[in-house]
Amino acid sequence: MAVRELLRMGDDRLLRVAQPVPETLFGSAEMDSLIADLLDTMKDANGAGIAAPQIGVDLRVVIFGGTGVNPRYPDAPEIAFTVLCNPLLEPLDNERSAGWEGCLSVPGLRGEVPRFEHLRYSGRDAAGAGFVRVVDGFHARVVQHEVDHLEGVLYPRRIEDMTKFGFTDVLFPAVVA
Ligand code: NI
Repeated sequence: MAVRELLRMGDDRLLRVAQPVPETLFGSAEMDSLIADLLDTMKDANGAGIAAPQIGVDLRVVIFGGTGVNPRYPDAPEIAFTVLCNPLLEPLDNERSAGWEGCLSVPGLRGEVPRFEHLRYSGRDAAGAGFVRVVDGFHARVVQHEVDHLEGVLYPRRIEDMTKFGFTDVLFPAVVA
């Protein structure tokens, strides 16, 4: 459909708590169009995931995965393409692990962020069908990062050690920014 403009950190629209997807939107042409735009925009920027607020759409919709090996995260395991609407996240225990994250709305930078390691998440797909998954590691990290966008939270706010925040090409010279 279309590669949309990616909002960057500093834009107030990234700080909103996004609105729940209304029942009437599930399975609609408008939803299909939103998902297509999110996917085109994510792929164009080599993202691992993207949230609707990042293209200025105030809805609780994120997509992630389905990109195969990602040049921005060459060591990350593959995740199946997922559309997640109105998500609910439930950490399965208190274990957290630190890992490097980037964000299409914070281009050129990476930071080390602690995230829950074991996670159950549930929500609806684009057609409105409910699903539940239990995941860990990178998959759990991606979901927590994307769903943070729906709460108006960008990952730099989650960094606990600000010495672990810097430019991708300085931190990881071999990785695509
Ligand atoms: Ni992001």
